[in-house]
Amino acid sequence: MVVETDGLRVAQGSLPQQIAWLTHHHFEKRFKLIYLDPPFFSNKDYGQFSDEWESLTAYLSEMEAWLLNVRPWVDDRGFMVLHCDYHAAHYLKVIGDRIFGYDNFRNEIIWHYGGRRQPASRHVNRKHDVLLIWAKTEAAYFNPVFEAWDRDQYVAMKRQKVHVDEDGREWIWGHQGKGRSHAYRIYLDEHVSRGRAIDSVWDIPIINTSAKERVGYPTQKPEALMTRLIELTTGPGDWLADFAGGSGTTAVVGVKLQRQVWVGDINDEAIRLTLDRLHRTPGLKG
Ligand SMILES: C[S@@+](CC[C@H](N)C(=O)[O-])C[C@H]1O[C@@H](n2cnc3c(N)ncnc32)[C@H](O)[C@@H]1O
Repeated sequence: MVVETDGLRVAQGSLPQQIAWLTHHHFEKRFKLIYLDPPFFSNKDYGQFSDEWESLTAYLSEMEAWLLNVRPWVDDRGFMVLHCDYHAAHYLKVIGDRIFGYDNFRNEIIWHYGGRRQPASRHVNRKHDVLLIWAKTEAAYFNPVFEAWDRDQYVAMKRQKVHVDEDGREWIWGHQGKGRSHAYRIYLDEHVSRGRAIDSVWDIPIINTSAKERVGYPTQKPEALMTRLIELTTGPGDWLADFAGGSGTTAVVGVKLQRQVWVGDINDEAIRLTLDRLHRTPGLKG
């Protein structure tokens, strides 16, 4: 254990070592969110950590052990989120269903990050990752999360005639069941300002090379992605955990959002970067 303060634990160690600490300190069912962003079976060496495997079977049996290991620590109303990509996502879905239950699978989130595109003849540009989300039980609920949108996007989606009332406000007809297509007025300004409920495709750019949040850790995830996920699955004061935290993105966003945070990683340089980022994060207690 490197840091142990009120509402924050930072641990250097492998996932099983971190789990041993949790056992010792009675963290059973403590976490509303466990987020894992493990190696993806890309068969690359990233310098800071290796994602090279003898075989797909070897990789999958390691990931199966991770999922089995973390399940007892998820709150009955909590979520397990596994970040992966096309290299192994479809195999991991099957393994996760066996451990968390097919019926507890809630979403496959597509994190679409876009970016430069080139013509390719063997596959089209691969520009998304996958977040697989399981609830621990059926009693787990997401918080409502909205994204900003504008009048033109709303009108394009509705494809209805826009009316203007005596005060100059724009509105369209709201429907209420069959045959009641002119049931009530929806005022565009009111509706648009509320934002739009998110769906399962998240368009969030990767961190650009000059971004302030970039710390130079390979595979560092954007704070905007973690903000949405943490707001969706946890509330202020809840515990969340990331046992393969890398540069500490989950921890930094968790602290900013007043969550209690467990973060660990096997790599000591990752822990050094995490601590450095946490020290610069407003809202850290102690
Ligand atoms: C994809 S990176 C995580 C990146 C992180 N989400 C971020 O935003 O910086 C995967 C991490 O898993 C860690 N890791 C690999 N094997 C591990 C193990 N057995 N136990 C704990 N961490 C491990 C690596 O050191 C690496 O930092």
